[in-house]
Amino acid sequence: NQSEREEAKRRAGESAAAEVEDGTVVGLGSGSTAAHAIRALGREVDGGLDIEGIPTSFQAREIAIDAGIPLTTLDETAVDVAIDGADQFDGADLVKGGGGAHAREKIVDAAADRLLVVADPTKEVDVLDYPVPIEVLPDARTTVADAVRRLGGQPELRRADRKSGPVVSDNGNLILDCDFGAMPDPAGLAADLSALPGVVEHGLFVDFADEVHVGTETDVTVFEP
Ligand code: A5P
Repeated sequence: NQSEREEAKRRAGESAAAEVEDGTVVGLGSGSTAAHAIRALGREVDGGLDIEGIPTSFQAREIAIDAGIPLTTLDETAVDVAIDGADQFDGADLVKGGGGAHAREKIVDAAADRLLVVADPTKEVDVLDYPVPIEVLPDARTTVADAVRRLGGQPELRRADRKSGPVVSDNGNLILDCDFGAMPDPAGLAADLSALPGVVEHGLFVDFADEVHVGTETDVTVFEP
């Protein structure tokens, strides 16, 4: 149920936050699980931990400011470790972007020396099959959607609800949620999607996780894929 799942997310987030060392720069992921890590880091900053954070989204930035974490940017410093959630994971391979933040997440997570993924057990699968969010320049939404169909996917423009206009990303772009069914070759699909003109970034994060923290209601399992 919902509160058990929230508890699992909290344990995962706090477990990853506990690994952050003094004097480091931390990539702050987006979504509800990473939010638990950000709040835990904020409490440690209150207790004297000296870190700087680089948020991966508008949402992460707001939570980090609220938690009192000093912020910096990729223009000023390198990233030691990033903590981020996932919509689905298979070992080190992830699908991200349920919140539409995957472009900045991928930039920060890729720049980090280590990526700690935080998740509850419902996210773990043998073969990724979560619809892949693709952030597109507004001019390219139809041509990218056509190309996604040719690659065997079903694209759907993300909307807040059936009546509203499209969801606009933090970068001012549109999101196509693309259902490819089971994706046995995420690396091949990732390369195909990256090659499409007008694609800003897609939500396949192939071979990204250095460590995965999976929380349950009572425990956390940590593994290195
Ligand atoms: C944001 O765009 C996503 O990549 C999130 O990291 C992902 O959706 C996980 O979010 P939850 O922890 O809320 O499931």
